Amino acid sequence: MKNVKAIIFDAYGTLFDVNSAAEKCKDKIGDKWEGFANFWRTTQLEYTWLRSLMKRHEDFWKVTEDSLDKSMNLFKIDKSMKNELLNLYKVLNTFPEVRDVLNKLKEKNYKLAILSNGTPKLLNELVSSNNLNNIFDDIFSIEEVGIYKPDAKVYDMPVKKYKIQKEEIVFLSANTWDVSGGGNYGYSSIWVNRNNSIFDNLDYIPKKEVKNLNQLLDIV
Ligand code: LAC
Repeated sequence: MKNVKAIIFDAYGTLFDVNSAAEKCKDKIGDKWEGFANFWRTTQLEYTWLRSLMKRHEDFWKVTEDSLDKSMNLFKIDKSMKNELLNLYKVLNTFPEVRDVLNKLKEKNYKLAILSNGTPKLLNELVSSNNLNNIFDDIFSIEEVGIYKPDAKVYDMPVKKYKIQKEEIVFLSANTWDVSGGGNYGYSSIWVNRNNSIFDNLDYIPKKEVKNLNQLLDIV
């Protein structure tokens, strides 16, 4: 890819494994842990989109807790586990290759940033609990614009800050809708297809598709 000035990563699902909170409790939750984790994530995202459309913004932590309440109810998970799951969500693990790839990218001359629905506090905690301090030039949170992805105001933040063209930003997300959101906005979006999944029909074809972040090192 040519004329790349900045490499920007989605956080949840792309750098950090959103299912790792429920997975750490799988002995207590039992076999349904994965269905529960997927439902929690889907509900969390639905709430972000609905709150943006309803113009009733609440931050990502509130949305995460509200969606957890619904999911625990549906999957009949003991209420006593709520705090444990929420605390684990603050220290989600990265996917295995993430730290190594970020360190290698750091040696090159790109701006490196996170652009995420998470609050600044949540994102900073995730970065430091995974020893990723000093990697990123910026951690852009949607709290700065008060509306969730895929609103264009979100994707505008790094363009304004770095004073570069939209297409000079390589944006990576494992969330297909976020790849489409960033791509339709004008980014050069790459889909991190970790789970051998199917892409969306939302007017955008990713510039590249990778299985994990390792392949990024061959692209930029
Ligand atoms: C984020 C969600 C989309 O980090 O995963 O913005």
